[in-house]
Amino acid sequence: MSNENLIDEILRLKKERNAVILAHSYQRPEIQDLADFVGDSLALARKAQEAECDVIVFCGVHFMAETACILNPSRTVLLPDANAACSLEASCPAEELAAFLEDNKDKNYYVIAYVNCSIGVKALADVIVTSGNSQRIIETAPADRPILFVPDRNLGAWTSLQTGRVMTMWNGACHVHERFTRDQLLTTKAQHPDALVVCHPECQEPIRLLADHICSTEKMIPYCRESKCSKFIIVTETGILHRLRKLVPGKEFIPMDMGKCSCAECEYMKLNTLEKLRNCLRDMAPEVRVPEELRLRAAAPLERMLELSK
Ligand code: 13P
Ligand code: SF4
Repeated sequence: MSNENLIDEILRLKKERNAVILAHSYQRPEIQDLADFVGDSLALARKAQEAECDVIVFCGVHFMAETACILNPSRTVLLPDANAACSLEASCPAEELAAFLEDNKDKNYYVIAYVNCSIGVKALADVIVTSGNSQRIIETAPADRPILFVPDRNLGAWTSLQTGRVMTMWNGACHVHERFTRDQLLTTKAQHPDALVVCHPECQEPIRLLADHICSTEKMIPYCRESKCSKFIIVTETGILHRLRKLVPGKEFIPMDMGKCSCAECEYMKLNTLEKLRNCLRDMAPEVRVPEELRLRAAAPLERMLELSK
């Protein structure tokens, strides 16, 4: 079936099911183009919370669809590919975090969890952050308690530098952002000496040190739009390039030169396709469900974040 026919069928099914399609900026261009809303984790969490439809189709990865379930439990949440996981989420199993907290009870950690984690980890956290609000949220952490930041050591280190808050860091990371190397960035910069470097805080320190600007995917859009510069090297998953080119026309966006491999792509994000999107609306599966007791515990720190980042 052609993409055009698939899109027609998706739009017809979306109407029939009274569904809304939310997509992360790392999704395939054709999915971004037909979604009702495209955004970063923070914007998508807000949209999911407000959604008044019967069905939320979450074109992203599992923890994002799970977040939608936590924030809007009366809706049916579909994820086009049930295998759309996240290496960062996997780097912090809830049982390991629970055991660590048990072993360190005397420290009375204030647990801050990056939204890229499972519902079990969220349920153990005091507050959630995204890459778009981590500084703001960490500034509100109680001054008299030590902070444990999970799971991303890179976002944690960057936020710690920005805010001056010392934090104990979980040793987790995103395999896509950790693949970028200083040498690749120096090569890309030498090829485009007139470009500014914009990177995601999930990148490692040697990359962050070479960047002109560090921000979440969403904040890259106004930064590039408002900058006097017309050329940018974008150091994050390549899906955002489509969005930047669409929303900031007339400027040039360059991915990292990674040699022959396409390893700046998140294979989990790219699992969702138009065909799977059509199938999930047709079959009302795969559906993401969460146990109610766990949902209630995970909702508290998520709602705290949304309240604090208003
Ligand atoms: P943001 O879209 O929140 O910047 O996060 C990036 C990411 O890696 C999501 O998986
Ligand atoms: Fe997870 Fe990294 Fe993929 Fe984002 S890019 S979904 S953090 S594996």
